Amino acid sequence: MRLLILKDYDDVCIRTANYIIERINAFAPTREKPFVMALPTGSSALGVYKNLISAHKEGKVSFSNVVSFNLDEYLGLPGDHPQSYRHYMKENFFSSIDIRSENAHIPDGMADDPEEECNLYEEKIRVHGGIELFIGGMGVNGHIAFNEPGTSLASRTSVQILARDTIIANARFFDGDPRKVPVKAITMGIGTATESREMLIISSGRQKAKALKDMVEGPLSHWNPLSCLQIHPKAVVFCDEDAAEELKYSTVRYYKHIEGLE
Ligand code: GLP
Repeated sequence: MRLLILKDYDDVCIRTANYIIERINAFAPTREKPFVMALPTGSSALGVYKNLISAHKEGKVSFSNVVSFNLDEYLGLPGDHPQSYRHYMKENFFSSIDIRSENAHIPDGMADDPEEECNLYEEKIRVHGGIELFIGGMGVNGHIAFNEPGTSLASRTSVQILARDTIIANARFFDGDPRKVPVKAITMGIGTATESREMLIISSGRQKAKALKDMVEGPLSHWNPLSCLQIHPKAVVFCDEDAAEELKYSTVRYYKHIEGLE
């Protein structure tokens, strides 16, 4: 796992966006051979999307041959609900870039048969040849997408029950009222995610410090879903100094030395 400890949130967003742009452009995607990405929601991803939109407007990157699969969606929220991830993606990214709408996949939180929706989502990813670059955020409790602690590290796309920590953390998007947060979500599986050719995680802020420490220094464990990065052959994490606050001094020095960030 690579770990880049950067100054602040702005640095994380700029470096992450540039990394994504380099990957897309180096892949030189075509309609027949698109670049397949997994995309997150959440507040940390907002700055990354802003930078990607600016780069797109400056002609530095096109998403016309990109296929995206969002990581998750709340169960029971229609796509036009302001807190649905479908709405988030449209507002914060898709409406400002040139991705084809048929290429942007998001689980349907209103599916009549959510289990079937999960199977179909898996199948769509498989048909596209799997994910080239997975981009994810970090739950305060170490979750990845909506895979909460205790989820099998081999899980496939499924319906998950949100942990209390997650409901409390996400209540800020629902008038600060945890009772308004949906209790279930469809999420890409951990097994599905780790089959991606590359995984990139962003982490910013003091509230992520414990999860980051557990991911980097803790054991591989279903109690810490993000630890799945430890067994991925190509994983990179962009974090800021605040998120790195609980790492051991020697860990920080080690990674800063390796990445030439001293
Ligand atoms: C939600 C999403 C996760 C994301 C997390 C982090 O819980 N399901 O995929 O990693 O938010 O969000 P934020 O960046 O807002 O802290």
